[in-house]
Amino acid sequence: MSNNLSLERYFNELSKTYVANEYASFFITNYMRRNLIKKIKSFEDKSILDLMSGKGENLKYINLTKNKKITTLDFSKEMNLAARLYHKDKEIQQIENDFFEINHKKELYDIIICSFGIKTIEPEKLNSFAKKINYILKPNGEVLLLELVKPKNYLNFKLIKFYLNVLVPAIFGKQFKTLFPYVNNHVNMDNLKLNMTIEKLKIIDHNRFLDLFEIIHAKKIHLH
Ligand SMILES: C[S@@+](CC[C@H](N)C(=O)[O-])C[C@H]1O[C@@H](n2cnc3c(N)ncnc32)[C@H](O)[C@@H]1O
Repeated sequence: MSNNLSLERYFNELSKTYVANEYASFFITNYMRRNLIKKIKSFEDKSILDLMSGKGENLKYINLTKNKKITTLDFSKEMNLAARLYHKDKEIQQIENDFFEINHKKELYDIIICSFGIKTIEPEKLNSFAKKINYILKPNGEVLLLELVKPKNYLNFKLIKFYLNVLVPAIFGKQFKTLFPYVNNHVNMDNLKLNMTIEKLKIIDHNRFLDLFEIIHAKKIHLH
C-alpha cells in the first residue's frame, strides 16, 4: 500500500472502466502510445520497465519475440490483475508498489516507458521522479514519457474542457470527471524536462501533438 492511498483507490476503481478512455479518445491515446514506442529502434535483449503501467496498454506495441521479459510497475492491485489477464501470453514481472517508495536497484533498465502516469505526480515530486529515473536507467538507457497536457490554444482548451467535463462523464460515467482537473493543471512537461536535464539526462526530443499530448524522449549519457 502506498502513502497516496486515495490515488491508489481511485485507480483500483477506475480499472473496471479504464478501457473507456480508448473509446473516449477515438483511439488517439492508443495511436500516441504506438508512436511513443516506435522511438525505440530495438527492444532486442533489453531490460524494459513499463512504469505506471495500468492494464499494460503499452505491452501490445513492444515486440517481445526476441525479448520475452518485461517489468511493469503500478501500485494498483486491480490494474495489475487486469494486466495479467490481458497479457497471459507474455512473461511479465510485476512490481506492485508506489514508484516513490521503492528502494530501487541502480542501473537496472535499458528502457523505461511511462504513458499517462505523469499528470497525477505532485509538482514537488518531479525532481524525485527525474532522480529515480536516472538512478535506475543503465548508461545509454532511454526513457520515453507521454502525457496529456492543457491545450495552449483557447478554442482547443474550451473544446477539451467541454468534452472531458461534460460529454465524457455523461457517456462513460462520472468517474471520468477527475480527468479534466488533472489535464487543466498539467500545463506542459517543461518543468519535468528541466529536472531531467539537471539530472544530466540528455533530452533527445520533446514535442507537443494535437495541442493535447506531449512526449519526452531522453537518454542517460554514459559518462567516463
Ligand atoms: C492513467 S493510468 C495509465 C496506465 C497506462 N500506462 C496507460 O498508458 O494507459 C496511470 C497508472 O499509474 C499508476 N500510478 C500512479 N501513480 C503511481 C505511483 N506513484 N506508483 C505506481 N503506480 C502509480 C496508477 O495506478 C495507474 O494504473
